[in-house]
Amino acid sequence: MTDIMWNSEIYENAAEARTRTMEGASPANVADPRQLRNTLGNFATGVTVLTYQSGDAFFGVTVNSFTSVSMEPPLVLVSLTRRSRALTYLLERPFAINVLGDDQLQTALQFAGQPKDGHPIEWVTDDGAPRINGSLAYFQCTPWAGYDGGDHILVLGRVQTYGQKDETKPLLFYRGKWGSLAADVPDNS
Ligand SMILES: Cc1cc2nc3c(=O)[nH]c(=O)nc-3n(C[C@H](O)[C@H](O)[C@H](O)COP(=O)(O)O)c2cc1C
Repeated sequence: MTDIMWNSEIYENAAEARTRTMEGASPANVADPRQLRNTLGNFATGVTVLTYQSGDAFFGVTVNSFTSVSMEPPLVLVSLTRRSRALTYLLERPFAINVLGDDQLQTALQFAGQPKDGHPIEWVTDDGAPRINGSLAYFQCTPWAGYDGGDHILVLGRVQTYGQKDETKPLLFYRGKWGSLAADVPDNS
């Protein structure tokens, strides 16, 4: 482990990252942010929903910026816009990352601010944060750190428990559209 990794100017705790402003940021050298977003959309991703509890209520936010970071300790990352309501909560309490299967498109829409009537969410509350029943995989996390990410905050979670469901294909997101794998992927486990 090098010293630089634990330099306090680089490592910020979650609360510091939340309150940090963008004063030092220079103007983006990108003529058209929409074009940038469209081009970034060529990177095909899976789709997750981060779920958490506040008071007696359960909440979620659809996120495709999920990535694995570290095995020791086990860390995962999501990038959340500073405007996200979820941010206030995720930096201070357990949350679950639910990896969605291709039969969970309505769930993805529901937590992306496009709820449809008649789509109840089935919650599992056996461990850590509430999670979504039937998801392809899940990771129960506790907040590890938050980092300044421009107009987003990079939220690192420490994985406490996890699980997966076999024989379900992932929901995909590519160029602004939802998709599914065209073919079965051989099981290499
Ligand atoms: C496919 C997809 C991926 C998304 N990924 C992210 C993401 O990585 N980070 C983020 O902040 N918002 C993301 N969003 C937008 C949020 O889901 C949406 O703004 C949500 O309503 C925020 O809810 P909240 O304000 O309760 O946190 C994504 C939306 C979709 C449809």
